[in-house]
Amino acid sequence: MPSPLEIRWLRRRDLPGVLAIERASFAAPWSEADFDATLRRPYCFGLAADRWQSLCGYLLGALDGKYVHLLNLAVAPTHRRRGIGSRLVGELIERTHCSGRRLVVVLGERNLTAQVFYRAQGFRAVGILRDFWNGTRDDAYLLEHRPGERAAPFLPANRIVAYLR
Ligand SMILES: CC(C)(COP(=O)(O)OP(=O)(O)OC[C@H]1O[C@@H](n2cnc3c(N)ncnc32)[C@H](O)[C@@H]1OP(=O)(O)O)[C@@H](O)C(=O)NCCC(=O)NCCS
Repeated sequence: MPSPLEIRWLRRRDLPGVLAIERASFAAPWSEADFDATLRRPYCFGLAADRWQSLCGYLLGALDGKYVHLLNLAVAPTHRRRGIGSRLVGELIERTHCSGRRLVVVLGERNLTAQVFYRAQGFRAVGILRDFWNGTRDDAYLLEHRPGERAAPFLPANRIVAYLR
């Protein structure tokens, strides 16, 4: 019997499903041409998450010397908060560190959900990229996952209130 959640390599024929999830996930989604061009690059790769053999999430990454860049990640809205994003990123973390590389992702300052998500996966902010997307005036954070990094516990709400006093 197939397992309910399976992580596998992304294939070109997954693109219609990927595009549907992408458009439901981002205000400025990647186009089919963006995905196509990325997947054709020899140093880029994609992972897919299937739930009961139906695509429910994906990520794209690129090898860059001693780094792996996580370029894109999304889970279908109806499948969120079920650990699918964690499984995809967990798989990438394992593969990256096994290859001796470091894993980085650039994340917009307004994407609070993803900031909480990446923190829960053990990523740390290592830089601020000013005006990263030309014209939007939005900054981005450079997040990195280092070998052996574990998710830090969240600050309890009463500690934040004490800090603000
Ligand atoms: C970010 C995203 C990929 C997370 O996928 P997911 O499958 O829902 O994530 P998980 O279920 O593995 O969540 C793991 C942990 O992350 C945190 N988290 C995830 N979504 C959260 C939310 N909406 N609010 C608060 N915390 C959240 C929680 O700590 C969660 O653990 P918990 O459910 O036990 O509390 C998904 O929300 C998404 O596709 N967002 C739109 C696209 C996007 O912003 N991509 C990232 C930029 S590249």
